[in-house]
Amino acid sequence: MERKKTQVAIIGAGPSGLLLSLLLNKQGIDTVILERVTGDYVLGRIRAGVLEQGFAKLVREAGAAHNMDTLGEVHHGVEFAIDDKRVPIELTELTGESVIVYGQVDITRDMMEEREKRGIEAVYEASNVQPHDVKSDNPYITYEKDGVEYKLECDYIAGCDGFHGVSRKTIPDDVKTEYEKVYPFGWLGLMSDTPPINEELIYSKTKRGFALASMRSKTRSRYYLQVPLSDTVEDWSDERFWEELKKRMPKDAVKNLVTGKSIEKSIVPTRSFICEPLQYGNLFLVGDAGHIVPPTGAKGLNLAASDVATLYKIMTRVYKEGDKKCIEQYSPIALRRIWNGVRFSWWMTDLLHNFGDEKDFYEQRMETSELEFFLNSEAGKKVIAEQYVGLPYEDLK
Ligand code: FAD
Ligand code: DHB
Repeated sequence: MERKKTQVAIIGAGPSGLLLSLLLNKQGIDTVILERVTGDYVLGRIRAGVLEQGFAKLVREAGAAHNMDTLGEVHHGVEFAIDDKRVPIELTELTGESVIVYGQVDITRDMMEEREKRGIEAVYEASNVQPHDVKSDNPYITYEKDGVEYKLECDYIAGCDGFHGVSRKTIPDDVKTEYEKVYPFGWLGLMSDTPPINEELIYSKTKRGFALASMRSKTRSRYYLQVPLSDTVEDWSDERFWEELKKRMPKDAVKNLVTGKSIEKSIVPTRSFICEPLQYGNLFLVGDAGHIVPPTGAKGLNLAASDVATLYKIMTRVYKEGDKKCIEQYSPIALRRIWNGVRFSWWMTDLLHNFGDEKDFYEQRMETSELEFFLNSEAGKKVIAEQYVGLPYEDLK
């Protein structure tokens, strides 16, 4: 077995792992990233598109923000549409903040290139990645690459390996509590090289189900439809998708809809999942490895970024000041913000989707009343706006 050594071993080269490695590198802290698949495979996964300013600031600090700041679009508002009635939420007017529309694929590519430029080590196509002795002062990871077995010794392990990764499984069942809510529908996404239907995103609730109009640029659109979990991508030709979208977007917006050939289509299940705690010995769960939210509200990637921010501050203090005690702060600080994001995503998902028979008459009236309450008052819209642009990051004590 070949032996290697680093300070912080990172499992997973998704946005969490890459961002953490770039930030730690800026502080002179050594990392090695182990990723199960190829870089191209990582870039093939089309996911989020809305970045909070907190995330954007971190990417700048990490030195990978050039494209985001030149190609990303700053959005000062977002729209809700309820049965054809459009309600603008003026994010900047209400909060002084904005969001950046820039794809997860693009930000991941930018960070991959920066990592390579700075010579930070990443091992792609590493198999059988397994953390060991994470409660001890000498944790290590074993993995295989090109038929050779490796032992990577380290001080800390950052589990940035997504929902299906190995890190969370390393925490014994009697130590962790997992909270889960699975929704009875999925999101069918379609990407096309067509101009977006509207300058701002539209989250639209209709009797036929929820739809979202988003974008990646002035010439690339991203749309989503709520679909039954039993549907497959094959059930949805482009034509069928566009016809359904027309029925679910506000009529005066549909006038601007340009349809075209899809360049990607996929179905995402919707669920909330939270693991507590997020730290076990010298192992930390970061991003989707520790929590998932349904996509309504665009919080998944942004919560991953706030985890990274907290772990980055902790690791910096550990290595610069020798204060190991502060690692206990990771889980409570990260979880406070995560539960806020979970709550907002749950609220948006609950109010904007069609739950069919799952909601009784009383619950349906509550839904209507809740939407009217929030969307007809400045105070209500401000509450939505504050959460959409993202709550502030908490500092270490
Ligand atoms: P990931 O992006 O999942 O990265 C984890 C990495 O770890 C992967 O590259 C994986 O290959 C690697 N890995 C896994 N297991 C191992 C192992 N054993 N060894 C080594 N490496 C391993 N959020 C939004 O805000 N809006 C959206 O529209 C949206 N759409 C989504 C669609 C899908 C299908 C999914 C799954 C998520 C979506 N999200 C969305 C959530 C958002 O994309 C995630 O929150 C974000 O990707 C989290 O980043 P991460 O780096 O923590 O995890
Ligand atoms: C996108 C995805 C979301 O879940 C969301 O709330 C907003 C935008 C997107 O992929 O563009």
